[in-house]
Amino acid sequence: MSLASLIRERRTIRKFNQTPVAEELVVELLNEAAGLFPSSDTVIWRCLYAGTSESRTRLADYMLEQMTGSRLGKWIPGKMIELFKKRFTDIPGHVVVIAGTGPDRRASNRNYAAVCSILQNFQLLGWERQLGMLWDTEPMMQSEEFFKRIGVRENERFVGIIHLGYFDKAPRGRARTSAEKKWTVYTGRKA
Ligand SMILES: Cc1cc2nc3c(=O)[nH]c(=O)nc-3n(C[C@H](O)[C@H](O)[C@H](O)COP(=O)(O)O)c2cc1C
Repeated sequence: MSLASLIRERRTIRKFNQTPVAEELVVELLNEAAGLFPSSDTVIWRCLYAGTSESRTRLADYMLEQMTGSRLGKWIPGKMIELFKKRFTDIPGHVVVIAGTGPDRRASNRNYAAVCSILQNFQLLGWERQLGMLWDTEPMMQSEEFFKRIGVRENERFVGIIHLGYFDKAPRGRARTSAEKKWTVYTGRKA
């Protein structure tokens, strides 16, 4: 497959099947993804991998703590919580991605952007191996309490969780906004 087709055809996968994913494959793809990112800086990042039933359940519980502990959360029916937990723990693997921060905003943003590029490479390399992924940054995983639970340190920034697994069916792609719609010719005149 050409690189352009790979980029065009990769889809976010939200429904995984139960085929187990080898942890070694995940590490191999992450290594390859990092190797494909050209950087003169050292990119600072690390991952936590939840690939066992126990660790997936623990991670789901940490996320649910934030949801059910909130003011509105106590009104969420127990059945819905159980369903969420089952869906989450049924997913074969979760890669929690954490980036380092730098001495200033620019350095932190550069490093964060580099980690995001590596993750996009990771998604593409996974797709080549029929491994589907969902890059998740939902609000329920954006609290200080959750970060504390998973061990995000002072000089680190939570990037997101990549849920992964094999899949039976890929969804259709969504329409994209054309570049022209995001394009303004700068005239130099005052706005
Ligand atoms: C930085 C980033 C954050 C994302 N966060 C979420 C998220 O919180 N929830 C979600 O359902 N999808 C999330 N996604 C997946 C996108 O919604 C997905 O890429 C989009 O629907 C386009 O689909 P495609 O990847 O199949 O082209 C995220 C993707 C990126 C790159």
